[in-house]
Amino acid sequence: MNTNIFAHRGASGYAPENTMPAFQLAYEQGANGIETDVQLSKDGVPVLIHDETLKRTTNGTGYVKDYTVEELKQLDAGKWFSPKYAGITIVTLEQFLQWGKSKNLLFNIELKNDTINYEKLEQTVYDAVLKYNLLDQTIFSTFNAKSVERMNQIDPHAEVAFLTSSNKRHLLKDVINMGGNALHIHYRLLTERLVKKCKDLHIPLRVYTINRPQQMKRCYKLQCDGIFTDYPDIALTERKAFQSNE
Ligand code: G3P
Ligand code: MG
Repeated sequence: MNTNIFAHRGASGYAPENTMPAFQLAYEQGANGIETDVQLSKDGVPVLIHDETLKRTTNGTGYVKDYTVEELKQLDAGKWFSPKYAGITIVTLEQFLQWGKSKNLLFNIELKNDTINYEKLEQTVYDAVLKYNLLDQTIFSTFNAKSVERMNQIDPHAEVAFLTSSNKRHLLKDVINMGGNALHIHYRLLTERLVKKCKDLHIPLRVYTINRPQQMKRCYKLQCDGIFTDYPDIALTERKAFQSNE
């Protein structure tokens, strides 16, 4: 079984997270998929950015939700990472899907609505993915249980993962009850027992954020369905080595 390698916010170990250079590099390195985080601008346009605030990854200040997409597009989203990336801008979901639609890639679109409950985020993101005919290649995920529920109401056939870093006793039961059909966990939660339970229930299990070769090997050995890594090239090399030793 092949553990899929998802570039976490693109190849974010090498290029500014959630920007086109990071996505392009992940694709060139041979990642199976790309994970990205989505929020809404003031005028309701889905944009790809991890933090609710602009400070860490752009030259802006304040909240993403308080700026229109045109205003967000004026910001520099690359220079914080390296002067080499000065002038790189925030990417809209549409731009990303347009780029990805002809590529043999999986997409994990993480709805960043665990702190701010963006109204209509689920429907807006779903409609964009549908428009580009990418539903079969897309996994939606969120830390917000209510959002999993809303996604399931929009399309019960869509793949919707509950994201968590907390070790609840009835985690899988909870995921099913909220309408989820996949589980994305922090690596500290990974156990052989959980892998087995997920396999028994046909719930894909993917693990974040896996940056060390030792952790990668463990995920391959346990046959996790996917990992999220900032270094897809290293994950690919390790997977090749692991498979040739099998
Ligand atoms: O989707 C996996 C991972 O990205 C979740 O955590 O904070 O990196 O978005 P975070
Ligand atoms: Mg994420």
